[in-house]
Amino acid sequence: MAKLEGLRIRNYRALRDVTLGKLQTLQNVDSLTPMTVVIGKNGVGKSSLFDALGFLGDCLRVGVEEACDLRERGGFQRLRSHGVREPIEFELYYREGLNARPITYELVINLDKSGRPYVQGERLRQRRKGEPRGRPYSFLHRWEEWGLVWAGKESHASNATEDALEERIMREDPDSIAISLTDRRKLGIVTLGALKEHPRIASFREFLEGWYLSYFSPNAAREISKAGPQRRLDETGKNLGNVVQFLEREHKDRLQRILTRIAAKIPGVEGIKTHRDEIANHLYLLFQCAGFAEPFTHYQMSDGTLKVFAYLLLLEDPKPPSFLCIEEPENGLYHKLLELLAREFRSYAEKGSTQLFATTHQPYFVDALSPAEVWVLEKGPDGFSKVTRASADPLVSNMVQEGLPLGGLWYSDYLDAR
Ligand SMILES: Nc1ncnc2c1ncn2[C@@H]1O[C@H](COP(=O)(O)OP(=O)(O)O)[C@@H](O)[C@H]1O
Ligand SMILES: [Mg+2]
Repeated sequence: MAKLEGLRIRNYRALRDVTLGKLQTLQNVDSLTPMTVVIGKNGVGKSSLFDALGFLGDCLRVGVEEACDLRERGGFQRLRSHGVREPIEFELYYREGLNARPITYELVINLDKSGRPYVQGERLRQRRKGEPRGRPYSFLHRWEEWGLVWAGKESHASNATEDALEERIMREDPDSIAISLTDRRKLGIVTLGALKEHPRIASFREFLEGWYLSYFSPNAAREISKAGPQRRLDETGKNLGNVVQFLEREHKDRLQRILTRIAAKIPGVEGIKTHRDEIANHLYLLFQCAGFAEPFTHYQMSDGTLKVFAYLLLLEDPKPPSFLCIEEPENGLYHKLLELLAREFRSYAEKGSTQLFATTHQPYFVDALSPAEVWVLEKGPDGFSKVTRASADPLVSNMVQEGLPLGGLWYSDYLDAR
């Protein structure tokens, strides 16, 4: 299964230049763990980071111009780090599988002459088979609406050491195919990833399409949704009832097992059942709570219970996302539930199908984590975010080894850069 080993974001809101994990040009560090958690006080850039990942997914779906305006982002000028004239840049370092050669994806977004955001550059690179070192070879290289691609599973034969030289050699390479894209605001991987001739581009596109960002809102989950069964929980959770309907129709036994498992994990809940109102053709979730003879419907349950329910249901998705991002799961949750949730997330991520990314400022959540899983965001003297891995500090690693919980250390300011 695909794994993101590292990423770099430049000039996106508070993230002037932030790297997490391994990159093609940063090899002497550990790659990201199955679960990655970013912690930090208010205003250090957690939402910027979460939103940057969402932005990338939106760029893929709707193109870069529209993505700049979605989710109240307010346009490119507001997104670009203040005082900076450079483009917004992303770099992802990923592997399709455990033994696959890593792939680097780079995306550069800038304003064109008419002041509209467009894709200024886009590139996919991979080392050739049997070459553990040296420069990776591009198999997609785009400059504005022009580009070159190499079909198939192997890259071209250039062995250039500089970008400018590489560009010339690439253009002269008989295996390269010149492309011109009709829409300069759309990602090239969308079009090219739909072609059978480009399996590597297709699988990267599939990986990025499989990202799921949770913007769960308990109130949305209480809405009575009229539409029928739906396979997957949407980002706000408002189709919670539809997903349960889907499971009830397609996998009745499985649903009951899921509900029993989830009920066992939510304190105060003794059982969860479904009830169908035949006249309204509506499905209710019934929560049997300790001390009450009559069950409560999901319209009556607390925000926290509903939230835990939704997260646990998400983890039961039969077609798991490749990358699951959750912002501050703690909101509205009783603190002791957080350790449980962190453990659930971790064991889910360790199963290997989904990588998990979360932001938090809750020490109880951090208590369940190991230093390699935790990244500390802070504001640097220039006002921009900087990030350090908790495991990079030997003192912190030693204290955790001696049994001190990581969240407690953070609470006591041990994780701040000294
Ligand atoms: N375009 C920008 N350039 C620089 N800083 C920005 C930009 N947009 C927002 N910020 C700063 O980012 C910080 C907020 O970051 P945010 O990601 O919301 O933090 P958190 O979620 O950790 O509380 C604020 O201090 C804000 O001033
Ligand atoms: Mg925030």
